[in-house]
Amino acid sequence: MTIRISQTADIQKFFEGAAGFDQPKGSARMKNVVHRVLTDAIKIIEDLEVTPEEFWKAVNYLNELGSRQEAGLLVAGLGLEHYLDLLMDAEDKAAGHAPGTPRTIEGPLYVAGAPVCQHEARLDDGQDPGTLLYMRGQVRDTEGEPVANAMVDVWHANTGGTYSYFDPSQSAFNLRRRIQTDAEGRYRIQSIVPSGYGCPPDGPTQALLDQLGRHGQRPAHIHFFISAPGHRHLTTQINLEGDEYLHDDFAYATRDELIAPIHFTEGPDGRYATINFDFVLQPAALPGEEGRLERARALEV
Ligand SMILES: [Fe+2]
Repeated sequence: MTIRISQTADIQKFFEGAAGFDQPKGSARMKNVVHRVLTDAIKIIEDLEVTPEEFWKAVNYLNELGSRQEAGLLVAGLGLEHYLDLLMDAEDKAAGHAPGTPRTIEGPLYVAGAPVCQHEARLDDGQDPGTLLYMRGQVRDTEGEPVANAMVDVWHANTGGTYSYFDPSQSAFNLRRRIQTDAEGRYRIQSIVPSGYGCPPDGPTQALLDQLGRHGQRPAHIHFFISAPGHRHLTTQINLEGDEYLHDDFAYATRDELIAPIHFTEGPDGRYATINFDFVLQPAALPGEEGRLERARALEV
């Protein structure tokens, strides 16, 4: 018979104390959250009969996750980051917001402070012999009007599936730029076609996915923050049509409206690819909506 003690008055009182309920100092919000985590955790231990050995394995896992800086990867892989998007979508719908380009996950690999360019930019430093990519598009509002001077903050992986800053073999801000749209809301990008990528094969995220019988692969994609005064900040990414993982993304970022057709052409100087993709920004209704969510991000100086 399973022994249960989590609901007894003594244990309830014990974890109220552990969460600081009897202390005048500290944050009431944090006390509530920690109390809930603790009481849910002991319920899980009893319901699933978690052994002490399994408990300490989980504690060690958290240490490994932190030491490898993979917590952001794990929350994407377990669908929690996508869940936050779905929750915000539902809140938008309930509030009657006009739909714009769908949001999707930021992921953990943004670096703040990329160079700002006017209207167009070359993203790659010429070191990666990838397929030349020309991408262009327009930023519009929900009325169909172009948004001049919108900031198109773009980042993507190289042909090896790695990102500058996190991959120290790449030059600073390689494949990262901020581009201000022209008077007609247009932007133009020259870069290389990115590859998809997987979780580090020897890391704790992949180790857990292995236990779940899941792969850790993402389709090729390009990340964007799009922002402009008077408009809601948009965090999104486009996924390149034709990738084998397009509808099997371990991070659940693919959305039908964000699948970008990519056309390959044999030119006189070799093969190149083109993508046309427009973005639609919602009007900002509340203060703070023009900016991106606050979270810890890498800053390269
Ligand atoms: Fe990415």
